[in-house]
Amino acid sequence: MTSVNEKDATLSNLLHEDRKFPPSPEFAAQANGKADLYTQAQDDRLGFWAQQAKNLDWETDFTEVLDWSNAPFAQWFVGGTLNVAYNCVDRHVEAGYGDQVAIRFEGEPGDQRNVTYQDLMNEVSQAANALEALGIKAGDRVAIYMPMIPEAVVAMLACARVGAPHSVVFAGFSAEALRSRIEDADAKLVITADGQNRRGSVMSLKPAVDEAVAASPSIENVLVVKRTGHEVAWGDKDMWWHDFVGQQSTEHTPVAFDSEHPLFILYTSGTTGKPKGILHTTGGYLTQATYTHKMVFDLKPDTDVYWCTADIGWVTGHSYIVYGPLANRVTQVIYEGTPDSPAKDRWWDIIERHGVTLLYTAPTAIRTFMKWGDELPQSHDLSSLRLLGSVGEPINPEAWMWYRDVIGGNNCPIIDTWWQTETGAMMISPLPGVTATKPGSAMGALPGIGIAVVNDAGEPLGNGSGGFLVLTEPWPAMLRGIWGDNQRFVDTYWSRWPQYYFAGDGAKLDEDGAIWLLGRVDDVMNVSGHRISTTEVESALVSHPSVAEAAVVGASDETTGQGIVAFVILRGGHSEDASAEDYIQELRNHVAKEIGPIAKPRQILIVPELPKTRSGKILRRLLQDVAENRSVGDSTTLADPTVMNLISAGLAAAPSDD
Ligand code: WT7
Repeated sequence: MTSVNEKDATLSNLLHEDRKFPPSPEFAAQANGKADLYTQAQDDRLGFWAQQAKNLDWETDFTEVLDWSNAPFAQWFVGGTLNVAYNCVDRHVEAGYGDQVAIRFEGEPGDQRNVTYQDLMNEVSQAANALEALGIKAGDRVAIYMPMIPEAVVAMLACARVGAPHSVVFAGFSAEALRSRIEDADAKLVITADGQNRRGSVMSLKPAVDEAVAASPSIENVLVVKRTGHEVAWGDKDMWWHDFVGQQSTEHTPVAFDSEHPLFILYTSGTTGKPKGILHTTGGYLTQATYTHKMVFDLKPDTDVYWCTADIGWVTGHSYIVYGPLANRVTQVIYEGTPDSPAKDRWWDIIERHGVTLLYTAPTAIRTFMKWGDELPQSHDLSSLRLLGSVGEPINPEAWMWYRDVIGGNNCPIIDTWWQTETGAMMISPLPGVTATKPGSAMGALPGIGIAVVNDAGEPLGNGSGGFLVLTEPWPAMLRGIWGDNQRFVDTYWSRWPQYYFAGDGAKLDEDGAIWLLGRVDDVMNVSGHRISTTEVESALVSHPSVAEAAVVGASDETTGQGIVAFVILRGGHSEDASAEDYIQELRNHVAKEIGPIAKPRQILIVPELPKTRSGKILRRLLQDVAENRSVGDSTTLADPTVMNLISAGLAAAPSDD
């Protein structure tokens, strides 16, 4: 076991991984991204990015790649102008691909609709004309609060087409969350739907919009897509999308905007304070989203069927459903509903029927499927898959292996992609045709990206140590600020070490220099002076054959400062008695064996669910309240507000440490 170095205050490096999976020779031979990308980017970083930018269609060429003179406020591709919607849609139609299906939409009730690039061009043009008819001008903000239906993509592209930055608010958020985001961005229009289909029933959206709009004087109009057809209240600002957009011309001439023109604002909630409106602009963002999508997913536009399971309410939906994929002329599946409707094999059914080749999802989903059992995916033919991606959280090595074996049939590269709302696009990831991957590791910076793992003093650490992940060079898709609060932008990301962007994540470099993300630094535990990452203990637990998912927190402890408390969900088929002392003891010993006695949990609780945000991140703060016997704090961001009751109820019966 590595012990902590107090002076450097680095993170203990506990978990060890020996498995390694190089790309197959067949995959490597046909890959879009070859090893020379790394050397090109190393030799001439800005020239490399300029080359990626030139894969887009610019109206006016840029004269300078990067202006960093006003750091940390970057300008990329200075002087260039382009239209994002034109790049994502029209240029493919002009190149003769109007009949290619862009979106294979599948509603939760089973309805299906194919949208070709020609259809998309017509609909985006109509919607752009509608926006202009409503007085939306370049620079005006538009709030989008929509289910996963093609009109959501159309709405975003229409905003981009007329230069009106959109602010997509996840449709699971409350009226108050929508209202505060409308207010912060001073939005003029809301685009929404009557409702959405989720888990076999109709979920309303309109009442939340009505409530938010009533309290938002800046909103002039509300455009409502009819999705479910159930009865909705109607006010004087409301207009049906099919009436108003449907009557517009399908001709619309796009105008080119400056490379630094705002493209969108996306709110991200930190652990404290009000949500931050992360601002992204045009040329740099589209360049990096497009390049990473092409290289990391190895997209072959003529043959691949791509499916990213994220919601457009998150940045993953922006960069890897809408902008990157469409700029690359993707054919993609969009699915409206939940994975358990009508049955828990819905995703595998979708993959089989649509012949999905590239799948991008999150560890939380993967661990849920592990919990539901192998039989569900095994009852479908998933052999169309050729590459699997992961994003959003560290993926535990055993979840990675399960993804590879059970979903990928041992035949697909796994790409674990690290990035953030703030980074706009992928930063750390294997290249599927180049990198020999290790289960659980995001491996290394993508070509053109600079990263380091540093100690408290900001000094880069060598292989074999853990510390803080920083980004050492500006990158094209970087956030350009926090909407309306540039001081907060500087304070949050650029003040701890002014020369670096601080991502807020812990990370370690293993002995080969592969990078392992260790979770948010706020989640680091301090046990007897050892700084231990929650991620490593969670991964050790998930490596036990009976465990599907684990969440670990540090609870205050008289002797050790903090003691490790683990909350564990069992895999499908395992129903060990939750209070069986010897089973709990076995799990504790398993952790000690995997990563060392220092990391042995003081207490382990078997729970039916874990508290997660709607984007699937575990809210360890609430578990810490439970572990420290406090009343549970603010749980308004929970996807399912009842889980904390389940967890607290189970706690009363559970045995404590020895
Ligand atoms: C945070 C950003 C990136 C789109 C979805 C999340 C965590 C993200 C990984 C990964 C380990 C990851 C980090 C990061 N994260 N991807 N592959 N391995 N951790 O965007 O909501 O802005 O969250 O998600 O902690 O800082 P986000």
